[in-house]
Amino acid sequence: MATVEELAPRTEDEVRAHLAAGKLVEGLRHMSPEYLRGIRRILTVSADTELVSAPSYIRAAQHAPALNNFGSAMSIVQDELAHAHIGYRLLGDLGVDMDALIYERAPDQFKYPYAFDVALDSWYELVLANALYDQAGFVLLSDVHSSSTFGPWKRALAKVDKEETFHLRHGRTWVKKLSADPEDKRRLQSALDWMFILTLEWFGLPDARKRHGIQLEYGFKGLTNDELRQAWMAEVVPFMEEMGLDVPAHHDEEAGRYVIDCPFPAAFDEEAKRWLLDEGPISWDEVIVRWKARGPMNREYVHKLQRWYRAL
Ligand SMILES: [Fe+2]
Ligand SMILES: [Fe+2]
Repeated sequence: MATVEELAPRTEDEVRAHLAAGKLVEGLRHMSPEYLRGIRRILTVSADTELVSAPSYIRAAQHAPALNNFGSAMSIVQDELAHAHIGYRLLGDLGVDMDALIYERAPDQFKYPYAFDVALDSWYELVLANALYDQAGFVLLSDVHSSSTFGPWKRALAKVDKEETFHLRHGRTWVKKLSADPEDKRRLQSALDWMFILTLEWFGLPDARKRHGIQLEYGFKGLTNDELRQAWMAEVVPFMEEMGLDVPAHHDEEAGRYVIDCPFPAAFDEEAKRWLLDEGPISWDEVIVRWKARGPMNREYVHKLQRWYRAL
């Protein structure tokens, strides 16, 4: 494989001048090595996230209350596979060996958020994943759609955004329906208790810990991690409150922002799917150890995806 230095002919100054002139980057010919490395990184995270949601959602769809509900869940899975395909195709255009990337990479080298490593074991958890995880994906991709300087991805996201809207509407419609019944609502609440905090982690290290330099400068994204976390809470918290469901966050009128009301980050018992909140907050370094080790479903999901491919 050619190196990034061989593939990307522009200097960093040339890329900055190109962007300062308000132009988009259309391909390798407009990229510098730094730009290429950065866009590959963010595209890989996005494509891996879309891809792994497929085995996760398929597994949970077995709990669909009726056949037509199973059908809706499977149409979401099809969308996610198409979204993953868009990302990997673009990576292929950027000189990455797609087959090696998807089918020969070790499971722990995949770059999707830790949340997908925790199994969804019921219809309650699947529809909440649509309301929480797809909402997180939507917040992140809308930011890329409006801020990205990489033209081919920016344009492809117009369609992806519409489909993600359908996924989170599917989640919200079901959350609303299930909240109307006391027993369903109780089960929804106990799923929400672990899933809400896990999605807060999705957005990564707080701004005080992470320097975004190149990601913002080269326009791979527009908002910082904390801003994205706020944008997600602004969608999810009022909705859950309206449903009469409890979430450990509220809007602070004076500060004009959402505030998390539980220890965060915290230790997570991944087998019991329970937060050890009584132990108080832990450090982000400890969270990074859990993320790096990956969670319970990582190997199974990745092996499943790679087996499908090998069978072809
Ligand atoms: Fe998607
Ligand atoms: Fe989705």
